[in-house]
Amino acid sequence: MLQRGSPVNSYEGQDGIFFREEGDRWFQRNRDSLKSATREDRVLKALDGLLEDPPEKVLEVGAANGFRLAALNAEYGCQCVAVEPSIEAIESGKKCFSSIDFRRGIASEIPRLPDEQFDLVIVSFVLHWVGRSSLARAIAEIDSSVQNGGYLVISDFMPDQPTSNPYHHRADETMTFKQDYSASFTSLGIYETVKKCIGVHGSEFDKSSESDRRIATFVMRKNTSGLYIQGSKR
Ligand SMILES: C[S@@+](CC[C@H](N)C(=O)[O-])C[C@H]1O[C@@H](n2cnc3c(N)ncnc32)[C@H](O)[C@@H]1O
Repeated sequence: MLQRGSPVNSYEGQDGIFFREEGDRWFQRNRDSLKSATREDRVLKALDGLLEDPPEKVLEVGAANGFRLAALNAEYGCQCVAVEPSIEAIESGKKCFSSIDFRRGIASEIPRLPDEQFDLVIVSFVLHWVGRSSLARAIAEIDSSVQNGGYLVISDFMPDQPTSNPYHHRADETMTFKQDYSASFTSLGIYETVKKCIGVHGSEFDKSSESDRRIATFVMRKNTSGLYIQGSKR
C-alpha cells in the first residue's frame, strides 16, 4: 500500500540497494532468529513498564518479518504497521503474523495514509544503513509518524565518535554509518529521552573495538509544546 511517492524501484544509493536486494539477503541470513521476540528483545525490554497507557497504534520501520510487532500485538492487542523494503521478509511475515499490516517501503518515504500517526514508533538497527543523502528525509518522515505525546524508540550502534565502516557483505561502496541517531530527534527540541539502555553487539570473540560494538536503545517522548522554558519577551 503505497500512498505517496516516487516510482519505488528508482530509490538511489544505499536505499535502492536495500530496497531491491540487500533487504532480502539480510532476511535470508537471519530468518531463523526472527521467529518471535522474547522479553530479552532489547526494544521490548526498554519499553517494559514504561508506557503510561498501552499503545494503540504502533509503527515499526525496518520491521523485517514483523516478529517484534507480533509480540506487541499479542500483549496489547494494538494495531501494528510494519514498513520494510524486503519482499521476502514481508511475504514470510504475512504468513506467520497475519494481524500485522505490512507495507513495502523505506524510512525516507514511509507509506502512510494522509495524517496517519502512531502512539509508538520503533526504528531499530535501520538508520545506520540509510543513505546519507536521504537521512534528513528519513528523520523527518519518522518524526511525522509520531503523534504528539507518543513514544519513539531508536535503537542502534553508538560509538564514541560517528564512524563509517564498509558493509562487509558487499564488495561495493555500501557503508554502515554508526552514530547517536537519538540526537537528531532530541536536538529538535520536541523529544525528551525517557530511557536509555546501553548494550554490546555481537560476541566476545568479535575483533572490533568496544566503541564500534556499543549499542544504545533510546525511548523518547514527543512533546510539541511543553519542553520550552517560557521567556517573558515577545
Ligand atoms: C539489521 S535489520 C534490523 C531488523 C529489526 N528492526 C531488528 O531490530 O531486528 C535492518 C532492517 O531494516 C531494513 N532496511 C534496510 N534499509 C532500510 C531503509 N532505508 N528503510 C527502512 N528499512 C530498511 C532491512 O531490510 C532489515 O529488515
